[in-house]
Amino acid sequence: MAQEMTIPVYLDVDTGVDDAMAILLAVRHPALEVRGITTVVGNVDLGQVTRNTLQVLEVAGAGDVPVVSGASRPLVAQARSAAAVHAADGLGNASLPPPSREAAGDDAVAFLRSELLAAPKPVTLIALAPLTNIALLFQTAPKVKEKVRELAIMGGAFGVGNATPVAEFNILHDPEAADIVFRSGVPILMYGLDVFRRVCFTEEEVDRWFASPSYLASRPYPDTPPALVGHLFHFLFSNFRRSFTSIGDAGCVGAVIDRSGLTTELLPVYIETGGRYCRGQTVVDRRPRDLVNRRGEEAVESCTAVALDIDGDFYREMFRQAVGNGSTGTG
Ligand code: BDR
Ligand code: CA
Repeated sequence: MAQEMTIPVYLDVDTGVDDAMAILLAVRHPALEVRGITTVVGNVDLGQVTRNTLQVLEVAGAGDVPVVSGASRPLVAQARSAAAVHAADGLGNASLPPPSREAAGDDAVAFLRSELLAAPKPVTLIALAPLTNIALLFQTAPKVKEKVRELAIMGGAFGVGNATPVAEFNILHDPEAADIVFRSGVPILMYGLDVFRRVCFTEEEVDRWFASPSYLASRPYPDTPPALVGHLFHFLFSNFRRSFTSIGDAGCVGAVIDRSGLTTELLPVYIETGGRYCRGQTVVDRRPRDLVNRRGEEAVESCTAVALDIDGDFYREMFRQAVGNGSTGTG
C-alpha cells in the first residue's frame, strides 16, 4: 500500500532559500514521509533558521512536522553568515507571517537519537547544512549509525567550490564536523556542487510554473508553495543578476526520492581540516584504481557514493510536478 512504500526521512537544515525549496519538495512529494526536521546554524543564525523552517512548513500546509533546533555554533570554528546569498532573513525577504508555533525542542541531537533508536527499520537522514548536529549525534550515540539507511548530504565538491576556490559552504562552515561524519562508516550520498548547480529553471519557466513578479506583487506574502518558490527564485535571479538558477538543496531531496537521474561512484573522500588554502575541501580520490594499486597504497573501502553526473531535466520535472502550480503533491 502507498503508505508502506514511503521513505521515512529526517531533514537537517539551515533554512536558507534553497533549504526552503528542499523542505517544500520533501513534504509535498508523496514518496517521502518527513518525520522531523532539525535545524543548525549556517546560512543565518540558529533562531532565524528555526523560524524560517517553521514558516516554510506552514506555507506548505505541513505545520505538524516536528521541528527541533540544534547547534548554534560549529564544533571549533566561528559561524559564518551567508546572508549575502540568502538575504538577512535567509528567505530572500519573503515577509512571511510569524509562525503560529514554536520549535518542539532545542536539543536536535537528543531528538534524533531517540527517534533513530526507536525506529523499527533504518531511516534516511538528509543533511542540507553544516554537519554539526550530525557529527554530535554520531559522537554521542554511535549506536544510531546502525539505524541510518543512508545519510544524503548536500555538501562538498570534487571540482570548484563556492565559499573558497575549493571548499563548499556547508563543509567549510564546520570542517571538523564533516570530518567526523565522513569517517563515520555510515553509507553517505555526497550530493556536491558538481551536480547541485545543474538542476535549473529560467525566469520564464518560473513565471509559468510557480509565480511571476506581478502575481507576487498582488499578494501580501507568498502564501502557497508555488508562490513561495516563485518568490525565492525571483530573489535569486535579481541577487545573482542571472536569468536562470538552480533548485540547490532540493536536488538532494530529489535524489533520495529517486536515484535514477544521478550517476554516482563509491570513492574515498577526505575532509581537509587544516591547510592554508584548502580548509573545508572534500578531497575526492578519483585516481584510476590501477594507479593507486601500483603505488602500493593501502586499499580504502569507501562508503561514500559521490554524485558525478545528473540528469537535470529529470529532477526539474520532479520538482515542478510536486511543488509547481497544479502539483499533485499530497501536502
Ligand atoms: C549550500 O550552502 C548553503 O548556502 C545552501 O543552503 C546549500 O546548502 C551550498 O553551498
Ligand atoms: Ca542549506
